[in-house]
Amino acid sequence: MSQPSKDLFKDIVSHCKEYGFVFPSSEIYDGLGAVYDYGPNGVLLKNNIKEYWWKSMVQMHDNIVGIDAAIFMHPKTWKVSGHIDAFSDPLIDNKDSKKRYRADVLIEDHMQKIEDKIDKEVEKAFKKFGDSFDEALYRQTNPRVLENRAKIDQIQEAFRIALENSDLDGLKKIIEDCEIVCPISGSRNWTDVRQFNLMFKTQMGSVADDSDAIYLRPETAQGIFVNFLNVVNTSRQRIPFGIAQIGKAFRNEIVARQFIFRMREFEQMELQFFVRPGEEVKWYEYWKETRMKWHQKLGIDASKYKFHDHLKLAHYAKAALDIEFDFPFGFKELEGVHSRGDFDLKQHQEHSGKKIQYFDPELNQSYIPNVVETSVGLDRMFLAVMSSALQEEIIDNDPNNTRTVMKIHPVLAPVKVAVLPLMKKDGLPEKAHEIFKLLKLEFQAQYDEKDAIGKRYRRQDAIGTPYCITVDHQSLEDQTVTIRERDSMSQERIHIDQVLEIVRARVSWNTILA
Ligand code: GAP
Repeated sequence: MSQPSKDLFKDIVSHCKEYGFVFPSSEIYDGLGAVYDYGPNGVLLKNNIKEYWWKSMVQMHDNIVGIDAAIFMHPKTWKVSGHIDAFSDPLIDNKDSKKRYRADVLIEDHMQKIEDKIDKEVEKAFKKFGDSFDEALYRQTNPRVLENRAKIDQIQEAFRIALENSDLDGLKKIIEDCEIVCPISGSRNWTDVRQFNLMFKTQMGSVADDSDAIYLRPETAQGIFVNFLNVVNTSRQRIPFGIAQIGKAFRNEIVARQFIFRMREFEQMELQFFVRPGEEVKWYEYWKETRMKWHQKLGIDASKYKFHDHLKLAHYAKAALDIEFDFPFGFKELEGVHSRGDFDLKQHQEHSGKKIQYFDPELNQSYIPNVVETSVGLDRMFLAVMSSALQEEIIDNDPNNTRTVMKIHPVLAPVKVAVLPLMKKDGLPEKAHEIFKLLKLEFQAQYDEKDAIGKRYRRQDAIGTPYCITVDHQSLEDQTVTIRERDSMSQERIHIDQVLEIVRARVSWNTILA
């Protein structure tokens, strides 16, 4: 029986540290804000998520090919893509604390506080009225709930208008009207709102001249656009087709918080799918559904995901939505699906002087294709998987007997199988090593002989290992071992020859790609 954690988010962060999944970057120097390193188990899980994405997108689609473009790109790329002029966040400073905030986040947090007040009101009423409580009716009729709901609607509408018109004064007015205070100083002594570009800038070569400014890419997508012609000319793909890429991206996020949810250095898994002009709506719908199915195949409860249409579109987008995930701190963006039109290719054609067009043999005409993009953050995927997998379980209805288990999909599990000699003597380690040698040819396997067997099982549960193989004295006599399954904790005696097949059936990519 699993029991809900009181503070799942804190538990995840400390579990990640304790079991070698994620560490703060340069921790011996007290860390670096919003930058993280992946440890021995973390890198295995991260690689498995990448592999799941790559196999689903590139291997399973005949009309998608991959690339791996450089992080540094010609500086013109970012001027042309609109990132130098428009890739910014609205910032506001508190003059007393000297702290800087994202104006939109201050407003969103304020609305969330009112939402929390409503929930508290409902919770109080539930306690008062018990089972006879009609929550829906209460939410529709209670004056205090209605008053707070009206407040949220009013702010939401002003917020929408300000965002749509990029009206920075409008954002400041909402902050003033809502009497939002600085969380540090408690004062309302705010500067004006201004735009702050999110790209990291550096210098290439020996001349410190602004014309040589180089940016760390804020999205991997542009590496795909500038290689469009190279791929068309070398891969014999016909439209509709896609180019996929996994790689690092960098953003100088101002509000960098919530662990690996919002980082300054992160990884994206992006697809640019090139289609005939006029067919983008059809493909937008196709990728919206396909990407949702990809997430749900991991066996995570479907109620944990929802679509969210964008209020304000990025400078390149014609239509956009998020696939949101119910993180421990609420529903937030996990993946973006964007209809980018012909914006990027057209811009690159105009400013590079190269004809970036596709000759469509069926239509006997050339055109600039339209693009549907899917973009999922690898680190956010990691956090989503972690937060749905990590559980505290009570065993045999005994509250004093608990285990921490990561019920992660077996194909994503960092370690697929652990081999454990019951004792460190009598030839058991030698026999276990024989089996371990065989297994590691095919799977990420682990050998462990330290501590009592129960403790070793718990260690494997905590990192999500689907199977443990225990070698005991009987193994030496009849070539059998026990195999323990992570979720049910059931143990079965099997012949050593069966081990490979049983593990393979559970952890092979077929189970999820088919
Ligand atoms: N090429 C389109 C693009 O970059 P985006 O919505 O800005 O679109 C796509 O980013 C995805 O990248 C997001 O859905 C999120 O998963 C991830 N992402 C964006 N910023 C991030 C950050 N600071 N830290 C971690 N992941 C981030």
